[in-house]
Amino acid sequence: MDTESDRVLIFDTTLRDGEQSPGISLNASEKLEIAQQLARLGVDVIEAGFPIASPGDFEAVQGISRQVQGPVIAGLARTQFADIDAAAQAVRDAERPRIHTFISTSDIHIVHQLQTTREDVLGQARAAVAHAREFVEDVEFSPMDATRSEIEFTAEVVSAAIEEGATTINIPDTVGYAMPHEYAAWLERLYELVPALHNVVLSVHCHDDLGLAVANSFAGVRAGARQVECAINGIGERAGNASLEEIVMLLHTRAADIGLRTAINTREIARTSRLVSRLTGYVVQPNKAIVGRNAFAHESGIHQDGVLKERTTYEIMEATSVGLAANSLVLGKHSGRHALRQALENLGIEVQGQALNTAFKRFKEIADRKKTVSAMDLEALVTDELREDIAGFTLEGYELEAGTDREPRAAVTLRTPAGEIVRGEFHGDGSVDSVFGAINSASGIQATLREFRIDAVTEGQDALGEVSVVLVLGSRSASGQGVATDVIEAAARAYLRALTTLARSEDAAAPADVDLAPAP
Ligand code: KIV
Ligand code: ZN
Repeated sequence: MDTESDRVLIFDTTLRDGEQSPGISLNASEKLEIAQQLARLGVDVIEAGFPIASPGDFEAVQGISRQVQGPVIAGLARTQFADIDAAAQAVRDAERPRIHTFISTSDIHIVHQLQTTREDVLGQARAAVAHAREFVEDVEFSPMDATRSEIEFTAEVVSAAIEEGATTINIPDTVGYAMPHEYAAWLERLYELVPALHNVVLSVHCHDDLGLAVANSFAGVRAGARQVECAINGIGERAGNASLEEIVMLLHTRAADIGLRTAINTREIARTSRLVSRLTGYVVQPNKAIVGRNAFAHESGIHQDGVLKERTTYEIMEATSVGLAANSLVLGKHSGRHALRQALENLGIEVQGQALNTAFKRFKEIADRKKTVSAMDLEALVTDELREDIAGFTLEGYELEAGTDREPRAAVTLRTPAGEIVRGEFHGDGSVDSVFGAINSASGIQATLREFRIDAVTEGQDALGEVSVVLVLGSRSASGQGVATDVIEAAARAYLRALTTLARSEDAAAPADVDLAPAP
């Protein structure tokens, strides 16, 4: 781990705190895909999940630990030994494993949620860190709800954690209550109370309930923190976490004044943001700093005039520095397999063998209907098509009758994971509803649609349509995405992908998920 004093470590929690956002449910292969992109982005630490939370979480953390090289891979654990054992087992095969354990130090949490005493919390923190150190050398400890805790007590707990071998101390503003000057003062005082804090990495973890997550994180960095916990597109519990792209670009753009650096390859930011948005179904608001569609757009005549004359009149960063505006035309319908492989490699995606055949077939289908296939189209197609490594439900074809004066009716033909061809029909409220109902009828799975979103991958009339859905079946939910020139087909593909995940998780017949009473 780089410990130079001007280096700020970027700890990405998209897959843990981010995944706790309402409605997000990523499967293990989607998490792996995001983790691989985070490694390409250059984050220092990937918090891959909360292994005790469910068998799915465990499997995802284990898969990432085994397959993602470069960053430290962290697993979250409460102070219970069962949590720590699960986290230790899940990260065991990582190149650089970390266990991140936490317990609340605020009286609000101790009295009402944990229903215990400060003394017990102190004992649990000490024992948890010592236990985690039996498995790994890299242990992070967080006193949850620190900013609403009495600082003297938190200092006592933090001292104990350091004595037991914690290598990173993270100070969460769990409920996003702090103000930047107050948070900085809190950390400065903690340094006074715990001199040993100078021997470990101090980390900040700020939530955005008052819109101050990035400002608070930056104040923390100015007070001495050298690790920032953040998430792509700022996703996370409630209002979310500090947005990775904002804190990174702040440190990058104002480097001459701030004098600190990260190891992030900023040109991968836009692509990472698109991937996370696509797989989580969380839309990025158009005016979102750094990655919003309009973040580099100039609408007013005066601004346009200025930028045309000299870009820096109204732009403090270049769009290309975050990987935007790199959507140059790449392929057409005459492009061959080699050109496709080369274009994918330029996007950092290595595709070979059967996966390349699948990608090529799908690319040809699209290129036949669309004049040019851009880098952004390819990115969407790859996300859509190449994720599946196990057979799922696939669309063989659909027919739709619809019009203003007739009741919509759809018929679909599917191939099941077992290779069987099945057919279903449905009269619905509209075209999409009819197709989804027909899929339920053909598959025999009565899933319910909870969320539906439709987007265009690029601008223009022949843009690819991209659909994201969230389906619910009993107590389980799953998301799916589909891309096609025809939006009904894209919707059907998205629905089938989510249905496949639901069917698979049913097959896995997970043991009952653990009761996470004191959830982070
Ligand atoms: O917000 C929080 O306190 C957390 C901890 C687990 C670090 O997410
Ligand atoms: Zn959090």
